[in-house]
Amino acid sequence: MPAKIIDGNALSKQLRTEIATNSAILTAKGTKPGLAVVLVGSNHASQIYVRNKIKACHDANIYSELINLDENTSQVDLLRIIHELNENPSIHGILVQLPLPAHIDSYSVLESISPNKDVDGFHVANAGALMTGKPLFIPCTPYGCMKMLESIEYPIRGARAVIVGASNIVGKPMAMLLLQAGATVTICNSKTKDLSAHTKEADILVVATGKPKMILGQMVKPGAVVIDVGINRLPDGKLCGDVDYDEVKYVAGWITPVPGGVGPMTITMLLQNTLEAAEHFHQ
Ligand code: GUN
Repeated sequence: MPAKIIDGNALSKQLRTEIATNSAILTAKGTKPGLAVVLVGSNHASQIYVRNKIKACHDANIYSELINLDENTSQVDLLRIIHELNENPSIHGILVQLPLPAHIDSYSVLESISPNKDVDGFHVANAGALMTGKPLFIPCTPYGCMKMLESIEYPIRGARAVIVGASNIVGKPMAMLLLQAGATVTICNSKTKDLSAHTKEADILVVATGKPKMILGQMVKPGAVVIDVGINRLPDGKLCGDVDYDEVKYVAGWITPVPGGVGPMTITMLLQNTLEAAEHFHQ
């Protein structure tokens, strides 16, 4: 029997309805949640992601501002703009779309965002808070993956979880969340020897490598939950994940599709974090 699908579109729809209701309630109390999205340059993929985020805000009763800066914007000017957003009382969340142009130091930029408005959860203070088990904001993609596991009521406690990819944005925070939920966690990276030996042990397999279809059916434990974070565009224009869906669906117990899996959940959790930021501000 093929794997059951964890439908990120359907789960997002349900969660976004709840977020829209809670945003309207907070607005009626005098605080309309507000998100600023800063995009530097004209990277095509980033423009699409940003447009989707702005539209999702509108549909969730969240105020949003797009600050689209020229590719040649200096780091000093970008830091000044972020400082102004940090001080702006109608903005509760600030997101600087990555990647930034090469002449800008991304680390300094992410550190300049007030941790209280850091809805991406990338500031070192928020990364540290997550590690101690007391997060302020959970990075949106891992947060979405945890919601997907919750939606199928998967017993994480005691499960073997393997994460392929060790980025600050996905792999490392995902490992922390699974660890705190009681899983035994392995993080694999591009230097891992005999990757299959690890992936085949996984009850929960999370893949975030950016390498199209790299996880094959023979690398997956029968019945596993497979969460595919990758979004890759093939030469024929179609989207695919980091998991070979057509093979793995016959081995896994649960699988997330691409598109329509983790992607919409990432935006949903951005809305959730923005709502939470506004709720903290309102208190
Ligand atoms: N670029 C790719 N993914 C992300 C993300 O989650 N947040 C930001 N700010 N930029 C990204």
